[in-house]
Amino acid sequence: MRTDHARPVRLADYRPSDWLIDKVDLDIALHPSATKVRARLSMRPNPAADGPAPLRLDGDELSLSSISIDGASLPSEAYAATPDNLTIAQPPHGAFQLELETTINPSANTQLMGLYRSNGTYCTQCEAEGFRRITYFLDRPDVMAVYTTRIEADRADVPVLLANGNLVETGTLPGEKHFAVWHDPHPKPAYLFALVGGNLGCVDDSFTTMSGRKVALKIYVERGKEDRCAYAMDSLKRSLRWDEEAFGREYDLDIFMIVAVSDFNMGAMENKGLNVFNDKYVLASSDTATDGDFASIEAIIAHEYFHNWTGNRITCRDWFQLCLKEGLTVFRDQEFTSDQRSRPVKRISDVRLLRGHQFVEDAGPLAHPVRPEIYHEINNFYTATVYEKGAEVVRMIKTLLGSDAFRKGMDLYFERHDGEAATIEQFVQCFADVSGKDFTQFMRWYSQAGTPEVTANGKYDAATKTYRLDLTQSLAPTPGQKIKEPMVIPLALGLVGRDGKDATLHAKGNTRIEHGVAILSSPSASIEFSGISEEPVLSINRAFSAPIRLVTNLSAADLQHLAAHDSDPFNRWQALQTFALRILIANVTALRAGKNTNSDNGLMDALAAILADKTLEPAFVAQALTPPSEADIAREIGSDVDPDAIFAARGHLRRKISECLGAELLALYERFAVREPYSPDSVSAGRRALKNVCLDLLAVNGQADGIARVFEQYKSADNMTDRLAGLATLSFHDKPLRGTAFEDFYQRYSSDPLIVDKWLMLQAAIPDPITLDRVVALTAHPAFAVTNPNRVRSLIGTFAQGNPTQFNRADGAGYEFVADYVLKLNGTNPQVAARLMTAFKSWRALESTRQAHAEKAIRRVAAGENLSADVKDIAERALAGG
Ligand code: BES
Ligand code: ZN
Repeated sequence: MRTDHARPVRLADYRPSDWLIDKVDLDIALHPSATKVRARLSMRPNPAADGPAPLRLDGDELSLSSISIDGASLPSEAYAATPDNLTIAQPPHGAFQLELETTINPSANTQLMGLYRSNGTYCTQCEAEGFRRITYFLDRPDVMAVYTTRIEADRADVPVLLANGNLVETGTLPGEKHFAVWHDPHPKPAYLFALVGGNLGCVDDSFTTMSGRKVALKIYVERGKEDRCAYAMDSLKRSLRWDEEAFGREYDLDIFMIVAVSDFNMGAMENKGLNVFNDKYVLASSDTATDGDFASIEAIIAHEYFHNWTGNRITCRDWFQLCLKEGLTVFRDQEFTSDQRSRPVKRISDVRLLRGHQFVEDAGPLAHPVRPEIYHEINNFYTATVYEKGAEVVRMIKTLLGSDAFRKGMDLYFERHDGEAATIEQFVQCFADVSGKDFTQFMRWYSQAGTPEVTANGKYDAATKTYRLDLTQSLAPTPGQKIKEPMVIPLALGLVGRDGKDATLHAKGNTRIEHGVAILSSPSASIEFSGISEEPVLSINRAFSAPIRLVTNLSAADLQHLAAHDSDPFNRWQALQTFALRILIANVTALRAGKNTNSDNGLMDALAAILADKTLEPAFVAQALTPPSEADIAREIGSDVDPDAIFAARGHLRRKISECLGAELLALYERFAVREPYSPDSVSAGRRALKNVCLDLLAVNGQADGIARVFEQYKSADNMTDRLAGLATLSFHDKPLRGTAFEDFYQRYSSDPLIVDKWLMLQAAIPDPITLDRVVALTAHPAFAVTNPNRVRSLIGTFAQGNPTQFNRADGAGYEFVADYVLKLNGTNPQVAARLMTAFKSWRALESTRQAHAEKAIRRVAAGENLSADVKDIAERALAGG
């Protein structure tokens, strides 16, 4: 395991590599415990570097069995090999061939980085720094090489042999063995290398590209699961087509392969021509996967495919530029989903995610810029900030430029940097070049951490028929950044009249307005709109044009008006959220002071109007009926947070909705409960989503009829979405039917680990004091395995990140349990351990008793023995500052 050495790494210290590797020839003989790796590396000095330099290759837990240069074996005094380095003090002056042989043990690889075995299948994961666990290498993304990979293995045990690129040769060998040779003509960094060997089933299809080339598409899965790949294959074909249509990007090999494995640290990985997926994001059928699972599969297949251009053809110069590929590719997958499904509903769910995760990250001790400037462990920077906020920054570029100029900028980026390892500066320069605009100040979105707060206060003057809008922006200090400079904030806006129509905007003042977008770039600004004939309602930050926290002087009546009439569907939803949030926060305060809670009838009227509006998409209505999450409410409150009071206030609001709108909810439930054959399309999924939100609200007070309806749906459901929705609602009610349903669910699905994960998750999320005991008991259940990341995330991860009242138990037992698990996983899988540890990211915002308990647990982890670089980094940053 890697511990902290040669760190931290700083962006300011970037230097080109002294050496380059043009060609890599790998010869890998797969064996469960002793896989032989022969690597022939074509090295040459980098002309961009400073001249003759020693060669120092990265390794990680490696042992070298032989080494030669240009065919001559190297005397032992000419090199030094340790598990994590190979140094040749005086390499040849010009180009040379370095041949290395290492032996690795895939079966002992519990970190799931490098070459490992998942359920008997050999597979690799090399991002970010896993290739160095296979052979010594210049394991940095700006070293790009052409790879040829020869794999040999037992024919019977390992009939399928895959690597990046196109298949060039196969054959049999003596001793019941066989081999395959793959060649990838596109130069790539080592993190995109992949190899798979196993006894896998395969689903075949093909795609004809826009220039008429036929590409073979293959999805490899565990035998017997081939019938669960149809949706993934369909999503893949739609992704290939969409990238051609939306970005003019064509696929560039003869074959594209996806392999699904059951042990995987992340969701999926974009290795060139050979994506490796967590099987949870490939396998789906109506009776095993929910609508949410189908949607994730579509989005992740698209995301990894889109990396072929944004990540692979153009990669990152160094890991500080991670958002160059991840933020941009998330933006691209969001656009894909918006085009395939509903744009407003996609935007709403993305913003929920952003607020519930990224804003929370930005508000705590783990806050960091979209492009960090320093890291101890790069694995810990695959964060909501790099991904989700990174995507928002790309979206703002599009908002600032408009669609046409944005597309021109993207085209220029692909043309100018194809085949290169690029930087954020180079990316943004393309948009500056096509538009003539100056992005200097905009770059602060990449360098300044934290969520800007914008105030927008409007006032109408009937006498002069003008509307004056005062704007301010501020950005609170974050770790390592005390002083902040003003940002460029694009605010899409409209002035909504009594008839619901937008007024025509004639603006004067010191703020630019372009195609309905005001650009706030100074600490404060005001705009005067003239010729406004009646008092309007301000609709601002439409479609969430900037990732900011917005504070307005909108009244309850204004919010109600926006909810009913705004032409921007996002802001219709946002008006309801803002309204609900105000009530929730007031009620949290009331509850903590021992006072009665109140609910504003205006919100109920606004919701009633939404329920009555037959023009709205069901999926939108489902979003309208869902109040802000507990994490989101806690972040808005900001300090002295009491998770129990938040839970109680949210429950109170939901009961109020159920009481006031019961009849309408029941009518909607019945309207959409009609049986039709299951289809995963987004319209059908939207209907189910609304029906299931209604079902849940109708049961929220725990009355017998509501609970009986839920159990009935659970029992009679003909698809996993409806069955799991029933179980999820039951899980929140301490009734005998809950136990019955959980028991029944396990009996039905015990042989399917991905479904058992849902069972584990729901139990871990129950907001009940006995949950911790149940979770502890479940860690000993045969369905649980500490070695499998999906099991750990489902049970322990859900408890830590998806159950705010029980993780944050006032007695601190939730923290102690999670800390124990972090320490337990630290030795076997540091990446998963570190991710679990991020559950502590909001500890400083808690009320003092919980804060003290949390601090004790974090300190215990920080003081743990043999701490991995991954866990140590999170624990130390969580404790720093304050
Ligand atoms: N490149 C990442 C996978 C990755 C992340 C590898 C971290 C190594 C370390 C991949 O493209 C990715 O971003 N996957 C996401 C899903 C995606 C839809 C956001 C993941 O795995 O969670
Ligand atoms: Zn990605």
